[in-house]
Amino acid sequence: MRIGILTGGGDCSGLNAAIRGAVFRALDYGDECIGLVGGWQGLLSREIEPLDLARVDEIIDRGGTILGTSRTNPFKDPVLVQQTIANIAAIGLDALIAIGGDDTLGVAAKLAAMGVKVVGVPKTMDNDLSGTDFTFGFDTAVSVALDASRRLKDTALSHRRIIVLEVMGRHAGWVALYTGIGSGADCTLIPEVPIDWDAVVRQVMTAYKRKKYAFIVVSEGVEVTQVTGEKLDDFGHMLLQNRGVGPEVARILEEKTGISTRSATIGHIQRGGSPTLFDRILGSRVGVKAVEMVHDGDFGKMAALCGIKLIAVPLTEAVGKLKTVPQEWVDLLKVFSK
Ligand code: F6P
Repeated sequence: MRIGILTGGGDCSGLNAAIRGAVFRALDYGDECIGLVGGWQGLLSREIEPLDLARVDEIIDRGGTILGTSRTNPFKDPVLVQQTIANIAAIGLDALIAIGGDDTLGVAAKLAAMGVKVVGVPKTMDNDLSGTDFTFGFDTAVSVALDASRRLKDTALSHRRIIVLEVMGRHAGWVALYTGIGSGADCTLIPEVPIDWDAVVRQVMTAYKRKKYAFIVVSEGVEVTQVTGEKLDDFGHMLLQNRGVGPEVARILEEKTGISTRSATIGHIQRGGSPTLFDRILGSRVGVKAVEMVHDGDFGKMAALCGIKLIAVPLTEAVGKLKTVPQEWVDLLKVFSK
């Protein structure tokens, strides 16, 4: 078979492990793998590259994606959809493996409904994709945030300050939640829970009195002030990088507590770098599984993690509804807010 592979949406660590897993497994079947450069854009422009053993042999520990990525949405225009389908035939692809999050797999689901032979591989550092327990990229992102937390706590204690760490995660609080619990933060703010400033100040001051510093983790998606008129991407998502949630939370806390407060935003640092062991293994496994799904004719589905097993889940179950942080996790967070 001739299998096309693309990576779409924001990059994250583990993408190369997934590409490599797919190519290695495809070799067992005698398949040929073709990389589509820059996500769905690569199909539109027919920018392709052969993916052989030599190309993928050494990439398991490399961040980013060797195929490049974009947030191109062919469903913005019916002409682009037709062009995408025509180019699949023109390149001679028997099947397509789309590696991405909600947006990329949303395109894959729509193409599958139109008869395209496509299998999905879930990825996102936000871990907000439904239908799978975890996505690769998340573990690495939180590990980076934990490293930043350790450093920030050291300087916060030395100066007897409050320090706020802003992490990514868009509209789901998983990165902030895991960073908050994993770093022992005194307060963690996630988009799923509206801010109660009186409670936040009480919590921060209690911790500050006890420890002579306080450490707060905030997700970029938290609504601190009403926002309007922000730029949207191809899929209609608000771009959050100019929001400055961390600095704003720090400003308000300093005003309300009278304690010197600083903030740090680690942004895209969480997206790059060598993947953790977890992300290397998960990336490799879902890449392998995707090729097996192609051979089983499991189209319109994605390779999902369910407990410790990989299963084929319909793409329609994964897309359109974000997996946000449920109440039981919010309750767990409260246990550590003393
Ligand atoms: O979806 C992954 C993510 O890193 C989000 O956490 C973040 O809001 C967004 O992408 C940033 O997108 P961009 O790389 O386009 O700035």
